Amino acid sequence: MKRIRRSIRIKTKEQLDGIRESGKRNIEILDTVADKIQAGMTTEEINEIVYGKTRELGGIPAPLNFQGFPKSVCTSINEQVCHGIPSNNIILKEGDIINVDVSTIYEGYFSDSSRMFCIGKVSPEAERLVDVTRECMEEGIKQVYPGNRFGTMGNVVYRHARKNGYTVVRQIGGHGVGIEFHEEPFVSFVSKAGTGEVFQPGMVFTIEPMVNQGRNQIYIDGNNNWTVYTSDGRLSAQWEVTVAVTEMGYEIMAY
Ligand code: CO
Repeated sequence: MKRIRRSIRIKTKEQLDGIRESGKRNIEILDTVADKIQAGMTTEEINEIVYGKTRELGGIPAPLNFQGFPKSVCTSINEQVCHGIPSNNIILKEGDIINVDVSTIYEGYFSDSSRMFCIGKVSPEAERLVDVTRECMEEGIKQVYPGNRFGTMGNVVYRHARKNGYTVVRQIGGHGVGIEFHEEPFVSFVSKAGTGEVFQPGMVFTIEPMVNQGRNQIYIDGNNNWTVYTSDGRLSAQWEVTVAVTEMGYEIMAY
């Protein structure tokens, strides 16, 4: 069977304006979470904050009902790699690290970004993982300019993680975004330099490496079929931005 390869969309100026407006709201929603998140709060409360703020700003939470996802945001704690489902039964406690992944639809345009939050005082090991993962994303952003390649960007992310003794999840990565929630291409953060498509102005995609303290193996929760965990039970962290390729380099659309 022949595999049909869809191409990467080049966004028009009008589309970039729309994605930027969506991204502004995504940032404001995450800022609101940042102000309120604390020990003792349930992840369902984070879901309510995200839903309420998104509606207030005229947007729609993209995760809600996406392929059956039941909530407005993903909240992934400690050994959860991604796609944690908010719940009244999950209470944040001092020492937890949590990824809050927000995606917004505004006037038909999609944006997607996530941040890590340290709840109270966390272990030095956890803090280092969170910091290095952020650096991985930042190193990736610096590689975004016309003429460079997806594979080279992903390889820089990968090497920064490995240099610090961490592994990077292979099966899940970034994606094109803007007109749809998930567009071409799949963006790997374990890629080889010099491979992949060439960056062109108007491409919009996410940089969102999932960095593990231990091994890179993962599994999906068999009960909810969503939440991804590290197989060895050690910590995982992730930061995500939506970036656009510009004539000069990059523009951050959502952080
Ligand atoms: Co994403």
